[in-house]
This record gives sequence, C-alpha cells and structure tokens, in this order.
Amino acid sequence: MPHPLGPSTHRPTRFRRAVLAFTVCAATLLGAALLPSTARAADPPLRELAAAKGIYLGNAVAGGALGGNAAYAALAGAQFGSLTPENAMKWGSVEPTRGSYNWAEADQIVAFAQAHGQQVRGHTLVWHSQNPGWLANGGFGAAELRGILQQHIATEVGRYQGRVRAWDVLNELFDEDGSYRSSLWTDTLGTGFVADALTWAHQADPAAELYLNDYNVEGLGAKSDALYALVRSLKAQGAPIHGVGFQAHFVLGQVPATLQANLQRFADLGVDVAVTELDVRLQTPATEAKLSQQAADYGTVVKSCLAVSRCRGVTAWDISDADSWVPSVFPGYGAATLYDAGYQPKPAHHAVAVALGAGTHTSTPSPSASSSPAPGCTAAYTVPNQWNTGFTGGVTVSCPPGSSLGSWRVGWDFTAGQQLSQSWNATCTQTGTRVTCANAAWNGGVTAGGSVAFGFNGTWSGSNPVPVVALN
Ligand code: G3I
Repeated sequence: MPHPLGPSTHRPTRFRRAVLAFTVCAATLLGAALLPSTARAADPPLRELAAAKGIYLGNAVAGGALGGNAAYAALAGAQFGSLTPENAMKWGSVEPTRGSYNWAEADQIVAFAQAHGQQVRGHTLVWHSQNPGWLANGGFGAAELRGILQQHIATEVGRYQGRVRAWDVLNELFDEDGSYRSSLWTDTLGTGFVADALTWAHQADPAAELYLNDYNVEGLGAKSDALYALVRSLKAQGAPIHGVGFQAHFVLGQVPATLQANLQRFADLGVDVAVTELDVRLQTPATEAKLSQQAADYGTVVKSCLAVSRCRGVTAWDISDADSWVPSVFPGYGAATLYDAGYQPKPAHHAVAVALGAGTHTSTPSPSASSSPAPGCTAAYTVPNQWNTGFTGGVTVSCPPGSSLGSWRVGWDFTAGQQLSQSWNATCTQTGTRVTCANAAWNGGVTAGGSVAFGFNGTWSGSNPVPVVALN
C-alpha cells in the first residue's frame, strides 16, 4: 500500500516581541539565495525575523538530539520560536503500557522551550498512528474506548496546562477523497468523538488553542473541502475549535498554487491557521538547481502565511537533513529541511529569512562615507529588548569568507524621534535624526567570515521603526 504521504501527491498565537532585524547586503538577494551557505553573511535568527512579522517560526524536535547533539540543540534554541515534539507527546510515547506514563522526553522538550523563551505546539492527542499496542489491539467497545480517550486527553493536556500553547487535538482525520479515515476511533466511535475530544481538551486547559491537523489539505481539493466542512460544522455547533494545521510535507516544486487562498478560506471561518510540519523533499542527490527550487518553495510557504492575517506561524519538520523522517519513508528522497546534514544553513534557510524581511533594506552609502564597504560585508540591526519608553538595540557587522574590514562605520536615521542615550563597543553620535557609530579602538578589524557587534540604548515613543542601516 502506498504511504499516505506518497510522492505522487502534495503532501504532507501570536507573541510579537519588538525584535526587528535587517541586513544590508552588497550581493543581490537572488544571488545570495543561490550562493553556497558558506559564502553568505549570516541571516538574523529566523525566530526574531518571524516575531517582527507577528508570526512564529518553529521546528519539530526530539529529546535525544536536544540533549546529545550540540549543533542540533544550538539551532533549535537560536533559530526557532516554537517547538513541536516530533514524537514525544504521541500516545505510544507517553503511555506505552496502560496506566503507566512516561513523560520524560515530553517534559525535556517543554523545559528546553521554556529555557529558550519558546512556545510549544503539542502533537498530537488523537491519531490513527503511533498508538500503544494495548490501545490499538485492545478490542475495546465504544463506551470503554470513549472513557479511555477522555482520560488520555485530560491527563496529557492537564499535565502541560499553561505550558503548551496549541494542541493538534485531532490528526489526519480524512482520506484523500474527503471521507473519514477508517481508524480505531471512527470505526468504534463514529465521528462524534471529534467534538468530544475538543471539548475534553478545552476543559483540561481552557487557554490552549485547539487545532485539527492534516496533510494534503494545503491546496483546494476534496480533502481540504471535507476538512473545511468539518470546521464550519464544529464552529456552528459551538465546539472549541481554534485553528487548523496544514502539515505541508511537500515535494520539490509542488507547493499548491492555491495554498494562500485555501489558508484564507479557513481563516474566514473564524479560526487561526498554521503551517505545522513543513518540509520539501527532493530526489537525492541534491543539486544547486534543486536547492534553489527548494528555497523558492520554502519562501512561497512563508509568504503565503504572512499574507493571511490569521496565519499564526510556520513550523518546519526536523532540524536538519540528518534528522529528517523523509529518507526512511521515501527511499531516494531526502534533503528536505532547512539545514544540511552538517547543520549548515541551506539556500532554503536564507529564502525563509528573506521572506521574513531580512535583507529587504538595500544599502545606500552615507553622505559621510569615506570608504567603500568590502564586498558582501553586512550590518544587521536588531532590537532585542523594548519597553514602555526605552529600548536596547544592537548592530552586528559581518563579513563573508574572502572579505574583511580594517575599520567600519555604520549609519542610520531614527525617523520616529528615537534618541540614542548610551552605546557600547562603538563610538556613537546622534545629530538630529542621524546616528553614526564607528568602531572602538579594539574592534575595527572584522575578519573574513567573522563578525563584531555593538549595542546601544535609546528612547522612543509612538513607534520604533527599524531604520535603514548603511555600512561604509
Ligand atoms: O524510538 C524507536 C526506536 O527505539 C527504535 O529502535 C526504532 C526502530 O525503528 O524506532 C524508533 O521509533 C521511530 C520513531 O519515529 C522515533 O524515531 C518509529 O519507528 C518511526 O515510525 C517514527 O516515525 C515518526 C512518524 O511520524 C511515525 O508515523 C517520525 O519520526 C515523525 O517525524 C513522523 O511525524 C509525522 C507526524 O507526526 C504527523 N504527520 C506526518 C509526519 C511525518 O510522517
């Protein structure tokens, strides 16, 4: 039987911090997207770019890798503002033996997220797959099965009350033709368990956002029509349904043209939408052309989410190509994630950054420029902290391999009345709106492939827009 996410098909909350980041690149954006990752200046962290746009950028993680793979953990913590336990919260993981729970990996992931200021998407409470043997083969009658399901939801959601922002309460309910999938649940309980499961989850954590999640529903079609009809019906019944997750396990070059329109029609029903398991698999080996197409595909998905105001975020599925589920399920396919097997960013990473606004401000030489910037050196402006009337800003000056600086000067205009009050690791002055910062005595040198950073405090009122930064 073909895998339900087979290659012939399109497969598969908002916490806005005042964190804004823009890079100033000498290379054109298109050129940068096609360059090998080692030849690009670093993009600002994706989680910061996403937060500045009012969405989250997340990823799916496993506890073992978070605890035992430093490169994996560093990316998970630094780049993503939301984590989804890839397997740790599934029923087979948390209750392998009836009445005997194992929360170790799920707890570990939630603790990691809390330590890194990340939200958690809980995945998943009711599914036809990855159920423990005692449940799948238990032969339970309807009344007992219903009680087991209610207890499972109450126990798991209750345990993570206040720590899991959104739950994929029901996963993959439909077949490709839009009929309900035959499963332990539908075969025994009919379809009423859908509203019941949402209600039980809501009782266990009234603040949690409750989602239906599925694949092959990203574009218009029979399956997404069925999901749409279910969401409309649940809303009409008053069931606690808050969002729809679109898994988005795509094949290279096959992002549905109707993705944005489809997200929008669900949003118009009065629910949030999110891309929950994004990856783009390709036939290996990866080539520059395939990675370029993949970058375009990732960018399209992020831009589609940004274009729909109720789209809360995009979660990628697996940190690197070394961690991806794809090769084991689709022999001959792989390289589906944002990072290569050595945990280096792929063109898709840069495309996501660009879709989220990185590099959209083109460098314009300052009138006070006294020298040309080295090719490809960049200045990235961030606001890592902002409060009622003040903010902390930072600028990182970076050079790609092959370029370096002996001294630097960064300038910008505060166009909304912001006033610099203090700086460190640079000498900064403000005259009118114009701010100019020059390197300190000890940090004028930026090595090829290296970077230096400086910071400052300022005051603001009304708004604190990100300035266009020039490195010269
Ligand atoms: O943990 C055991 C290990 O002890 C054992 O030695 C090994 C041998 O096969 O298996 C390990 O479990 C595997 C588990 O991943 C953890 O690595 C399972 O066999 C394997 O089936 C399981 O695959 C997961 C798959 O869901 C199960 O259907 C993938 O990691 C996970 O990425 C994938 O995620 C799903 C989403 O939940 C729903 N949407 C589709 C998506 C991709 O299939």
